[in-house]
Amino acid sequence: MTVLVTGGAGYIGSHTALALLDAGEKVVVLDDLSTGFDFMIPEQATFVKGDIGDQDCVETIIKQYGITAVIHFASKIVVSESVSQPLEYYETNTSKSRNLIETVTRCDVKHFIFSSTAAVYGEPEKTPIREDVYLSPINPYGRSKLMVEWMLADAAKVSGLGTVVLRYFNVAGADPAGRSGETTLPATHLVKLAARAALGKRDGLSVFGTDYATPDGSCVRDYVHVSDLAAAHVAALNHLRTGGENLTLNCGYGHGFSVLEVIEIVKRISGNDFPVKHEERRPGDPAALVADGSKIQTLLGWEPQYDDLEAMANHALAWEKKLVARGL
Ligand code: UFG
Repeated sequence: MTVLVTGGAGYIGSHTALALLDAGEKVVVLDDLSTGFDFMIPEQATFVKGDIGDQDCVETIIKQYGITAVIHFASKIVVSESVSQPLEYYETNTSKSRNLIETVTRCDVKHFIFSSTAAVYGEPEKTPIREDVYLSPINPYGRSKLMVEWMLADAAKVSGLGTVVLRYFNVAGADPAGRSGETTLPATHLVKLAARAALGKRDGLSVFGTDYATPDGSCVRDYVHVSDLAAAHVAALNHLRTGGENLTLNCGYGHGFSVLEVIEIVKRISGNDFPVKHEERRPGDPAALVADGSKIQTLLGWEPQYDDLEAMANHALAWEKKLVARGL
């Protein structure tokens, strides 16, 4: 039994490929290297450079390697870019996923795990957010992912495909053993940006909004360690293989940190100060996004190992130092 990981040269995909290999699985990575890097792909995985929307390519991989499960990460993920280039997001995230799902069901792959996002919730009326609230994404990125959730549910009904949809909150940190980390260029995520500022690779940091209705006025997010998230995918696969029902689950710890708290922790852990500017709110940022994470813990037995922002900051800093040494 071999698992196909699309987007395995990217941030969460490479960590999940590592977790699968650590669990004794065989892994094929399919990635077009548009945003991923070949040095992120674990050496023990088989790598195919190609496009998830290319049905001949995917069918050949499924037949050649005896793929029984697909974990689908490959997508575009920058919210602001999705606003300026919506059709590219609908093409890459939605249309190509449709092609992939069609190929997977036609070739009788049994299990499919889909990388979704808290962006499907839009501006939630209350937090922690449960999976069954009304879904109202406020940007093309969230809509491009929600359409795939819907397609997958409809396709699964007729094909019997086993599916788990995982809605990620704010993913941060890096493999504790230093084998992978967030490499996306240009960096847009807060923890990575703060790590780069602490290493002197950028000229400080801006805080977008300090007048939100939160304890210190800056936005609150539920930061999840990428290795815990990778473990959730392995648990989801085991759930499906043992006959578990199709599920949609939040991936978050159920508590959050503010932007100012994240910056303070990165400064303290690194021992480096850097300038911080308070700026206007960034359009489309909800004040607080915190998961109700009880369902994934109950249904998958997911037990986070790194629910600790200091550990996330430490691992992110260690990875960033490696990237800097590579000239990135
Ligand atoms: N922030 C700053 N300064 C920066 C960068 C970010 O203040 O330089 C703030 C943002 O305004 C936000 C928080 O830090 O309040 C986190 O921002 P990120 O860009 O790291 O993450 P987002 O919350 O915007 O987005 C994340 C994922 C998306 C997903 C979304 C779901 O990256 O893919 O959560 O809500 F859609």
